Amino acid sequence: MIRVENLHKSFADLHVLKGVDFSAKEGEVAVLIGPSGTGKSTFLRCINFIEKAEKGIVEIDGLRVNAETAKEKELRRIRMKSSMVFQLYNAFKNKTVLENVMLPMISVQNMDKALAKEKALGYLEQVGLLDKLEEYPSRLSGGQQQRVGIARAMAVNPKVMLLDEPTSSLDPELVGGILDIIRDLVSEHKRTMLIVTHEMRFAREVADRIIFMDDGVIIEDGSPEQIFLNPQKERTKQFLEQMQ
Ligand SMILES: Nc1ncnc2c1ncn2[C@@H]1O[C@H](COP(=O)(O)OP(=O)(O)OP(=O)(O)O)[C@@H](O)[C@H]1O
Ligand SMILES: [Mg+2]
Repeated sequence: MIRVENLHKSFADLHVLKGVDFSAKEGEVAVLIGPSGTGKSTFLRCINFIEKAEKGIVEIDGLRVNAETAKEKELRRIRMKSSMVFQLYNAFKNKTVLENVMLPMISVQNMDKALAKEKALGYLEQVGLLDKLEEYPSRLSGGQQQRVGIARAMAVNPKVMLLDEPTSSLDPELVGGILDIIRDLVSEHKRTMLIVTHEMRFAREVADRIIFMDDGVIIEDGSPEQIFLNPQKERTKQFLEQMQ
């Protein structure tokens, strides 16, 4: 479903991704962990082509794109295969909750407005926001805004959902609700997901696989049991000890 080969990304002379190889099967949930500044967000952004890697291959759902040589048309196509949930969702402030979720279906997928509305209502029901349809984002709590972000990411019906620390900017009492929504998404088994989180208990619970990244490369990749109970690499052990 998704395959990444030898991905490299630099910002000026800072070499962030140093040859990342990764693949996941359809419906698989991979959780990416690792120290701050390691390149986790950059990796997700390069998969979604918000950032363009200098070198490497990204293949999603049979569409194989060489970052070095890709044309704008290919980039547009592969961008539509994945969607991102960010730390803090930046909703369009002058649009209601319902409009925010309808927008990608209308503008990206050219969907008919009535159908987009019907689907948006379904996604907003799933994230528990049916009572806020006509509200503007500035009047929502952080957790509610994050729910809009998740509904919006679902709205493009992506092959791969990329979640970058979806709870890290929330007050502690709001974290549980968002994790519950992600658990629901995971249990649908429909989407391949790549989740960056520092919530280790949650990681262990939802992941089919844990990927440990450090200093721009994947150090270790295995089942939650393998990584948490029997890590092979010293750096993985050190990181997990710190996280406890
Ligand atoms: N747009 C950018 N311009 C310049 N440097 C950047 C940019 N984005 C990220 N970096 C740098 O790339 C490195 C990796 O950043 P990244 O955000 O991918 O780390 P991360 O693993 O997601 O960290 P965290 O756990 O703190 O979110 C950092 O040194 C960061 O300063
Ligand atoms: Mg990050």
